[in-house]
Amino acid sequence: MSDPHTPRTMGQQFGRRSWAEPWKIKVVEPLTMTTRAQREQALREAGFNTFLLRSDDVYIDLLTDSGTNAMSDRQWAGMMLGDEAYAGSRNFYHLEAVIQQCYGYRYVVPTHQGRGAEHLISRTAIRPGQVIPGNMYFTTTRLHQELAGGRFVDVIIDAAHDPHDPHPFKGNVDLAKLEAVIASEGAANIAYVSLAGTVNMAGGQPVSMACVKDVRALCDRHGVKLYLDATRLVENAFFIQEREPGYADRSIAQIVRELCDLTDAAWMSAKKDSLVNIGGWLAVNDEGLFEELRNLVVVYEGLHTYGGLAGRDMEAMAIGITESMQDDYIRSRIGQVRYLGELLADWEIPIVRPTGGHAVFLDARAFYPHVPQDQFPAQLLAAELYLDAGIRAMERGIVSAGRDPQTGEHQFPKLELTRLTVPRRVYTQAHMDVVAESVKAVFDQRAAATGLRIVYEPKYLRFFQARFERV
Ligand code: F0G
Repeated sequence: MSDPHTPRTMGQQFGRRSWAEPWKIKVVEPLTMTTRAQREQALREAGFNTFLLRSDDVYIDLLTDSGTNAMSDRQWAGMMLGDEAYAGSRNFYHLEAVIQQCYGYRYVVPTHQGRGAEHLISRTAIRPGQVIPGNMYFTTTRLHQELAGGRFVDVIIDAAHDPHDPHPFKGNVDLAKLEAVIASEGAANIAYVSLAGTVNMAGGQPVSMACVKDVRALCDRHGVKLYLDATRLVENAFFIQEREPGYADRSIAQIVRELCDLTDAAWMSAKKDSLVNIGGWLAVNDEGLFEELRNLVVVYEGLHTYGGLAGRDMEAMAIGITESMQDDYIRSRIGQVRYLGELLADWEIPIVRPTGGHAVFLDARAFYPHVPQDQFPAQLLAAELYLDAGIRAMERGIVSAGRDPQTGEHQFPKLELTRLTVPRRVYTQAHMDVVAESVKAVFDQRAAATGLRIVYEPKYLRFFQARFERV
């Protein structure tokens, strides 16, 4: 098992010289540099919400790893092979075959992105009043479960809620918690167990294969289905290969397949792992469930052979899936995220440890202990980072957690984090240095920072569109 506090010599950790990328740059996209005065104005106009900034006003964009990937020359070439037939596009059959081979499920339904898939699976698999236990909520996933009449119950291990616990698999399910939910609700009232690998809101933390096997066995004992959010499963597979006994010599593709084979179905936001800018899917083994999903997809997304996507998008996704499973690629991907994390940790800046797969998460509570949680410390930190150097981050704390659907009160999550999300194949090591230096500058000024208050709040997924001002 690797020591999460390993110094920056990645070579030692990977048993080779460096995590350097297995690709070179062919096309570049100029970035905008702004002055502090321009950023102050842009941030005011955006209501202190980084989602409301124009990307033209951003220098290094670490808002999300979703749809922000750089595609390969192979993928761009594949775009030219788009078959834009309304029905039966050849690109769909290519995509279907790649998903069946790499993820192992029998039936595939394409969707325009992850939440399209979440919508369909939630409507199909959840009856009003049912409970969905899972390893920590994700914003859109939980909302679709709630809109279908379900209730999400968090059964992740306690270590996941502690930013400083070095547990190597902080995404793991606590089996006793899961067993207790099944016992109190009754197995018939569990729609399915919702398993994510990696766990976004916990800091991109992985789940171990041993844990998934245990969850599978528990589900089998009670006749409960196990569904997977496969959005960042390739990244999860890297951590299994690196940390879990018995997996060092297995390929990423083999690990992905083994994990999927333990589950009954999966949904996917291909905008992450699969190295594309748009796309998603649902895949299931049960024929009856597939029939229902294939029927619903034509109502909400598009015909079952395009699901809201252009043929060229499906081709790029099929190629991206194959590229995402290459061991060299994923090593460099995680290596870059870890490089940024180690720089910050060396400067004793509070981050979630160990660093996860897609992002470095700043612990905003530790950053701004003087700012109460209902003055949105993580939102504030994202705003200050933007002001300092034009770096765009995302709040993952009380704003993202939203309000309790019953009481209407803020939900107060234990984790109050600001996410520096690293797009795949987009930024260089020097960009990571700039980010680290800017975080350090903001950290050094932390005592002077003051909290925020909400001045506008939408009903659903408020973090996307809420507006704030300084207290
Ligand atoms: N599941 C997980 C774990 C996600 O991280 C996301 C999106 C989705 C599902 C929904 O997929 O965006 O394609 O509709 N996460 C993005 C993020 C938005 O920035 O973390 P989508």
